[in-house]
Amino acid sequence: MDYRNLQIETEGHLALLTIERPKKLNALNKETIAELHRAFAILEEDRNIRIIILTGSGEKAFVAGADISEFASYSVEEGAQLATEGQQLLFNFVENLSTPVIAAVNGFALGGGLELAMSCHFRVASENARMGLPEVSLGVIPGYGGTQRLPQLIGKGRAMEMIMTGGMIDAATALRYGLINHVVEQHELMEFCRNLALKIANNSPVAISYAIKAVNAGFKNNVLGFSTEIESFGACFGTEDFKEGTTAFLEKRKAQFTGTR
Ligand code: COA
Repeated sequence: MDYRNLQIETEGHLALLTIERPKKLNALNKETIAELHRAFAILEEDRNIRIIILTGSGEKAFVAGADISEFASYSVEEGAQLATEGQQLLFNFVENLSTPVIAAVNGFALGGGLELAMSCHFRVASENARMGLPEVSLGVIPGYGGTQRLPQLIGKGRAMEMIMTGGMIDAATALRYGLINHVVEQHELMEFCRNLALKIANNSPVAISYAIKAVNAGFKNNVLGFSTEIESFGACFGTEDFKEGTTAFLEKRKAQFTGTR
């Protein structure tokens, strides 16, 4: 599969997905969003891939936002359509992907860039990373889920302040807020994420996919998190991975998961 704005490398069970628009600081135009959708969908189908790391090319930016040049002249209808399509194709899609996705935030994560990082299952940042939702400085609000996911992650007051000021926070502040899980030196970022990925890839892919579903359910107003957790928990008991995991524990050996449902 050929992509104009992405690069995909695989190493064992890990897929490394890099957004490649360095001259535009990896800003998300429609084409990149469509390519990301396609890449995530293909990786999710690939039973050999158990973990995905998403990052931006170059040393300066993860993603510097939605591509402003593309939407600057949009009408009300076109604006609403942009947000609807983007959320469906990419942001909600990644959040609900059954394969876990780590955002390796290697620089600026602004606007749609921070929204994309927040759609991933968790985030690790390098020391030079800067995060913010500057949309109100452009006369618009975050439209790719930022008004929902930022308060979920850091609390309403802090989110309100970040959204209203449109300012950027540094990696240390993002760590304190709980927006990211770890800060590491820039040259260590990918190795650090790879090590986390290896730990995740050792566990049951089926159980992880159910855990993602159950955790996400708690953040959806129209879905009961606890019921979804019970349903997903029960479903695990019918999987080969569950049998292997519990048997291996009892036999005092390392489980060999196959990802079979
Ligand atoms: N959309 C489109 N192009 C973007 C972009 C975006 N969100 N962010 C950066 N770019 C482009 C710049 O226009 C510039 O292109 P050019 O060389 O053709 O002029 C190139 O990327 C490099 O950016 P530049 O602004 O020169 O880098 P900088 O180091 O001076 O500043 C930022 C870096 C991230 C602070 C600055 O680019 C910025 O504020 N970007 C917009 C952030 C934003 O508002 N995002 C939310 C969008 S909803």
